[in-house]
Amino acid sequence: MDPLAEKDLTHLLHPATNLAQHRRTGPLVIERGEGIYVWDRQGRRYIEGLAGLWCVALGYGEEALVEAAAAQMRKLAYGQLFASRSHEPGILLAERLQAWMPASRRHTGPWKFLYGNSGSDANDTQVKLVRYYNNVIGRPRKKKIIARLHGYHGVTVAAASLTGLPAFHAHFDLPIDGVLHTACPHAFRHAEEGESDEQFATRLAAELEALIEREDPDTIAAMIAEPIMGAGGLIVPPETYYPKIRAVLDRHDILLIDDEVICGFGRLGTPMGCEAMDMVPDTVSLAKALSSAYLPISAVAVPDWMHEALIEPSEKLGAFAHGFTYSGHPVAAAVALRNLELFEERDIVGHAARTGVHFQKRLQALQGCRSSATSAGGDCSVASSWWPIRARAGASTPAPRRLSASPPLPRRKA
Ligand SMILES: Cc1ncc(COP(=O)(O)O)c(C=O)c1O
Repeated sequence: MDPLAEKDLTHLLHPATNLAQHRRTGPLVIERGEGIYVWDRQGRRYIEGLAGLWCVALGYGEEALVEAAAAQMRKLAYGQLFASRSHEPGILLAERLQAWMPASRRHTGPWKFLYGNSGSDANDTQVKLVRYYNNVIGRPRKKKIIARLHGYHGVTVAAASLTGLPAFHAHFDLPIDGVLHTACPHAFRHAEEGESDEQFATRLAAELEALIEREDPDTIAAMIAEPIMGAGGLIVPPETYYPKIRAVLDRHDILLIDDEVICGFGRLGTPMGCEAMDMVPDTVSLAKALSSAYLPISAVAVPDWMHEALIEPSEKLGAFAHGFTYSGHPVAAAVALRNLELFEERDIVGHAARTGVHFQKRLQALQGCRSSATSAGGDCSVASSWWPIRARAGASTPAPRRLSASPPLPRRKA
């Protein structure tokens, strides 16, 4: 075995890995990357189809990002945002992000950005933020958060609780109290015989409302959703799903947290994924493509009305006591800022939108196709840079309730 691979087995505990299998097979050690390619230690080249973990949006070897990091390290390698300290890259990144943000309910003024280092910590911040907000405005019972089965929101204690995948709960004694899960909007698997997309979305909204009423609306603070579910299986909700969900939430004064950790920054052919899915959020979690993963950085976008509600109580309560040593790390912020400039200069969002339509057309040709080997039937749901293809391949694969006649089109506003 490669000596570096042996050292891996001796010294590393790998995240999200079958540890027993890893001991048998050893690691795949990747040495370098360029554009869409990475090379392993033996010199084999791979197409990095997943862009790392859905994050290396501009591809590998982007010199402009390397330079942005080096220049910022030379100038101010670390700076904090605690206790009113600030720095240029943190401020300029927040200013730049304004133009990327979607239309949001009740929102008029500039967003406020609260930085972190990962998608998980952004979602943990979301949980703490809605708790804090409801406490300071005098609604201490309104705390529970609704997430969805098959949703993925990360792995820290609160974020893993929001995640709706059993492996992330079992043996970790999760989820924590105050997290509820509602149905997954996957018509292909969960629609009933003869149920249209519209009827399926209506049923899911009714199920959500029943859950809220059962629990008592005064105890529910927020719902969290990825515009398209990623890690849980690339699930594109039916077209009217989010408007119906939003109407239910509005009736009970419940916030909608938009987890844009993988859908944001053009992946669905729109600046934020919610715009492609007709989803109107209250707050937004950002990470991954924010810096094309050249350095870790995340952010929670806080609407002006929520931020305003925190100001006066702060006179009495003192500090808003949340944040990380590396919140808005200046080197990560400088890289993210340069990354967004490159996105804009190269029209990456427009490119994703155009490419998505082309792929969609080509994949439509596969709709319902049959392979002689498997007698597979399936469904191609296409959303810009993602192409989930669901195939039914033999008796061991559970049959979907329904095969769509045609794939849903990405729903773009512009
Ligand atoms: C939608 C979504 N939210 C949150 C996360 C967690 O992000 P991180 O792994 O940076 O903590 C992920 C990770 O893939 C994600 O896909």
